[in-house]
Amino acid sequence: MESKVMLVTGANKGIGFEIVRQLAKLGHQVILTARDQEKGREAQSKLKAENLTVHFLMLDIMNEESILQAFGKVKTDFSKVDVLINNAAILLKEDHSLLRNDSTVFEKTLQSNAFAQLAVTKQFQSIMSNGGRIIMTSSQGGSMSDPVGGWSPAYCVSKSLLGAITRHLAHELSNRSISVNAFDPGWVKTDMGGRSAPRTVSQGTNTAVWLASERAIPTGKFFRDNKVIPW
Ligand SMILES: NC(=O)c1ccc[n+]([C@@H]2O[C@H](COP(=O)([O-])OP(=O)(O)OC[C@H]3O[C@@H](n4cnc5c(N)ncnc54)[C@H](OP(=O)(O)O)[C@@H]3O)[C@@H](O)[C@H]2O)c1
Repeated sequence: MESKVMLVTGANKGIGFEIVRQLAKLGHQVILTARDQEKGREAQSKLKAENLTVHFLMLDIMNEESILQAFGKVKTDFSKVDVLINNAAILLKEDHSLLRNDSTVFEKTLQSNAFAQLAVTKQFQSIMSNGGRIIMTSSQGGSMSDPVGGWSPAYCVSKSLLGAITRHLAHELSNRSISVNAFDPGWVKTDMGGRSAPRTVSQGTNTAVWLASERAIPTGKFFRDNKVIPW
């Protein structure tokens, strides 16, 4: 398989870290990014101990300067990105009600889980060649077809918005044959998902790895377990 340059955001732990591990195992040049230098280096070392070499870059998706710096470094060192995986996100513990919560909960969540994904994508798509891929880590909570579960409403709305952004980016980038898709990892045992989650990190990661490496994939779609699901 051809080795590609793949960048993953929020990859010091959880699903992002496991995506990096799986893609590195496939022989790709993977850039593990994290907003915290120490946590990122630690994650890189963990993989080194498994004989997996990955590159590390600091990238805080909420900080424009940080996005520009990471972009400059990738442009200089790799000259391109083939696959961008927008994985970093937050779920605030105060996120219980759109009506009762302070508006900052809603604003911060949307900034982090939707606007920042667009800002990162805007920058990195400029060095993506035809055939590039952009993958958004979304959530079933963002579904517009499933019934509302009532949990973490700001988070769920942010993922619905991310879905809308995905569809529109897919349209805008179709003339360059760059695919833009989102996937739902399911409810996964991570710091965000908690201990009672039924799925392992590896199960939650498979679809991202498949979208990054499958020979031909559609664009503008929402996936779970390698299958298209309704938005
Ligand atoms: N776990 C689930 O059940 C589940 C279900 C559906 C969807 N998802 C989605 O899967 C993705 C990964 O979630 P996870 O479960 O692996 O969560 P996690 O363990 O909490 O990891 C989230 C990652 O995002 C990073 N991050 C947050 N804000 C950032 C920022 N401004 N800049 C850079 N990195 C930032 C975190 O960095 P720090 O360590 O520095 O905080 C961490 O590395 C998210 O998009 C989430 O919404 C998860």
